[in-house]
Amino acid sequence: GDVRKIRASLLEWYDENQRDLPWRRRTKLGDGKNVKEEDEEEEKRAYGVWVSEVMLQQTRVQTVIDYYNRWMQKWSTLQHLAQASLEEVNEMWAGLGYYRRARFLLEGAKMIVSGGSGFPNSASSLKKVPGIGDYTAGAIASIAFKEVVPVVDGNVVRVLARLKAISANPKDKMTVRNFWKLAAQLVDPSRPGDFNQSLMELGATLCTLLNPSCSSCPVSSQCRALYNSKSDESVMVTDY
Ligand code: ADE
Repeated sequence: GDVRKIRASLLEWYDENQRDLPWRRRTKLGDGKNVKEEDEEEEKRAYGVWVSEVMLQQTRVQTVIDYYNRWMQKWSTLQHLAQASLEEVNEMWAGLGYYRRARFLLEGAKMIVSGGSGFPNSASSLKKVPGIGDYTAGAIASIAFKEVVPVVDGNVVRVLARLKAISANPKDKMTVRNFWKLAAQLVDPSRPGDFNQSLMELGATLCTLLNPSCSSCPVSSQCRALYNSKSDESVMVTDY
């Protein structure tokens, strides 16, 4: 019913409207016969998702694009990054701020490469890497490895709060935990990475904090906050 409709509407919208971002470009996939090639493809994708998501945690998409492209030109694989020095990494990071995150990327790359068992391919194994928390683990696992796990950031909290007309203190630990639970129930089992990105994308482009574009929204007919604000002027969509 409702859940399937929300998934289908979001994915259809995402397919049509997603921004063309360098870390979303797929290098050609194998034919499904060569397992080794497919694994390498996934690992490359995981590395790109990792770098981009860490950069995106503190910086707008438009700014991240150039940093991401320069980073990938210098260190095109995890193995290349693991050979870098902290000075080089910091120099590449200059202007992004929070240099700790760059150091975690380098330390994580060294740890994964020296471990010798490949890129951790589940959210739980990813969380053992320094600097990778729930958000980054969920993003890498769902986008690169198709694990059916949710991803919740500030944009996703706002989208889900509006969709379900939940007003709760977003700074409360319990609130955040509940949004992870809700997101876990919603995530599409056949396309978890695209689904998670559709929520983030919707929050970044239409379901914005101020002046949301409800008339263009793919899930406006399921949105309880919009419904409430139509029937009761005291509850505005912008309250979430
Ligand atoms: N913000 C952070 N990560 C994102 C992603 N993968 N898609 C859209 N917006 C994002």
